[in-house]
Amino acid sequence: MQITTATKLVGLIGHPVAHSLSPVLHNSVYQSLGLDMVYHAFDVTPDKLETAIDGFLALGFLGFNVTIPYKEKVYNILESRDAEAQIIGAVNTVKIENGILKGYNTDGQGFIMHMKNLGYSFYGKDVVILGAGGAARAIGIYIAKEGAASIRIVNRTFHKADILAGVINDYMERRIAKASSDILSNADFIINTTSLGMWPDIESNPLKGLTLSKHSVVCDIVYNPRHTAMLKYARQQGCKTCDGVGMLIGQAVRAIEIWLEYSLPKNIWDKMNQEIGKVIF
Ligand SMILES: NC(=O)c1ccc[n+]([C@@H]2O[C@H](COP(=O)([O-])OP(=O)(O)OC[C@H]3O[C@@H](n4cnc5c(N)ncnc54)[C@H](OP(=O)(O)O)[C@@H]3O)[C@@H](O)[C@H]2O)c1
Repeated sequence: MQITTATKLVGLIGHPVAHSLSPVLHNSVYQSLGLDMVYHAFDVTPDKLETAIDGFLALGFLGFNVTIPYKEKVYNILESRDAEAQIIGAVNTVKIENGILKGYNTDGQGFIMHMKNLGYSFYGKDVVILGAGGAARAIGIYIAKEGAASIRIVNRTFHKADILAGVINDYMERRIAKASSDILSNADFIINTTSLGMWPDIESNPLKGLTLSKHSVVCDIVYNPRHTAMLKYARQQGCKTCDGVGMLIGQAVRAIEIWLEYSLPKNIWDKMNQEIGKVIF
């Protein structure tokens, strides 16, 4: 691709960012669709966060993604956020328009888009979410919006699960979520949103020792490695599984759609999957 004075700029801020797959994912989409855009990852130290954001504004960036540890900090310095980002209390995508910064959280939407692509619906389903951190909050809100019948949140720190259940129930204005220590009974979906199983801790499996029902669909949002110990275990027990790469792609697709204000073609998922398949196994 040729970078000219007309090339639109987008990027990622985090600390560290050297491990990020976002530049590969985004730039492959831009190339495939012939978009005159370029995406770069910026490692920004905490004392330079606001200066970096002012820099994006001054340089005419279309927007930027935000990753660990800044999702909450950036949320707090934005002028405007969409309704779901306000419930989640964190952003991973910012659009810059007429000098105004607007924040979004595309993690939950990315997860739902991925599951819909696989033909799954959460409508009327009983869902177990393992974990109660930022990703659990983003996913929980969107699963509730999709019409889940019940959401059980299982977390090492029980009171955080209780807080998240309250956030989801307040958002839905009905009691569909509760903190629980019961992972298995009647779960249509079991979704790991904890960091257990993530490299280098690749032997960890939050379902270890449990007998799973073949009827449960088991999802892991950890994407490195792609085939986590939990997913291998669930497959051995006859469950259908979905890995974290789909959500990674989904949240990136949604971010691009927010910046460009149009929907990307469905076949772009295959292209991104191919690109990511070169670096994650
Ligand atoms: N596929 C994607 O696109 C995507 C997007 C976002 C995040 N992720 C992945 O999702 C994971 C969580 O991210 P996050 O932003 O939600 O992190 P977070 O806010 O720090 O939450 C981490 C969660 O993991 C739990 N946890 C951590 N270590 C644990 C352990 N040893 N035993 C049991 N539970 C443990 C925490 O429990 P406590 O509350 O008890 O501390 C908490 O519920 C990460 O692996 C991240 O890479 C993937």
